[in-house]
Parts: sequence; structure tokens; C-alpha cells
Amino acid sequence: MIPEPLREKLADRIARAEDAREQAVDVMFEIQNHYGYMTDEAMREASALLGMTTLELEELATFYDHIYRSPVGRYVIRVCDSTICWMEGHERVVDYISSLLGIRMGGTSADGLFTLLPVVCIGYCDRSPAMTVNERVYGRLTPERIDEILRQLRDEALFPQSE
Ligand code: FES
Repeated sequence: MIPEPLREKLADRIARAEDAREQAVDVMFEIQNHYGYMTDEAMREASALLGMTTLELEELATFYDHIYRSPVGRYVIRVCDSTICWMEGHERVVDYISSLLGIRMGGTSADGLFTLLPVVCIGYCDRSPAMTVNERVYGRLTPERIDEILRQLRDEALFPQSE
């Protein structure tokens, strides 16, 4: 169950929208933030709030690649696999991150911190190879830079007050 304050906040947002459907993605993001991913229960709660069927929400969740229907790590690393990044070392980046975290593409690290996924061009072509981690974008990736990024993220996870 989502906490009552969150339910009230979302219900209020939906009530002020012209059409509840406009809020569907945002509502799912908020509920996902609470659960970590869109569990079946989360889908039912979103469905009840929005007055949409779970099938309708399922279709949206499938379309938006930042809505997760299975567990992901606290940090979702998405390495760009479009043309420019591919030419500029995408594979080296993926191999390096995979070896550091002990996971393959699509996997989540044993500590639950990182999930590794591909993404299409994120508009950082002039700074390729590039990746996103949650809402942050990183370019010109080298092993040293990746080490530093992962170290900072681990520090954030260990010392949340420094976020
Ligand atoms: S091709 Fe990777 S950011 Fe554009």
C-alpha cells in the first residue's frame, strides 16, 4: 500500500487534471519511487487512482522505458548503444561496467545498487560514448571516469545526506 500522504497528493493531482490519463505516467513514476518498481500491487493502486484499467497502464508502462515492471537497482545505468556511441567505444564501456559490477546487460549487481541497460541516443553524441544514471547524463566515458562515477554513486548510497 502506498502511504496515505502520497495517495492524497496523487489523488489531488489527478483531480486537478483535465483528464486523469494525462497524469498516468507521472503517477506511475511517483508510485514506482515508493516501491522501487511497478509491482502488480503498484499497478492496481495506480489503476484505482487513475480510473484506468491495469491493461491500459500496462501498455503505457511497456512504452516508457523508465517505468520498470521488474526489480531494478537503486541506480539504473543506461549505456547508449546508438551509432555514434557504438563507433566510439560503447562495447568497451559495457564490458568495463559489466566486469566491475559482475553483471551482464540487463542484470542487477548483487548489492542491489546497479542495473545495466541499453538506451537509444541520448543527445550526447559529441561527448560519446555516453550513458545515463537515473536522471543524470555522463559523456566521454573512460575507465577512469566510470570508476569515479560509480565511486560517487556508492558514496551517495552509503551517505544519503550528501545527495
Ligand atoms: S549516439 Fe550516443 S548519445 Fe547520441
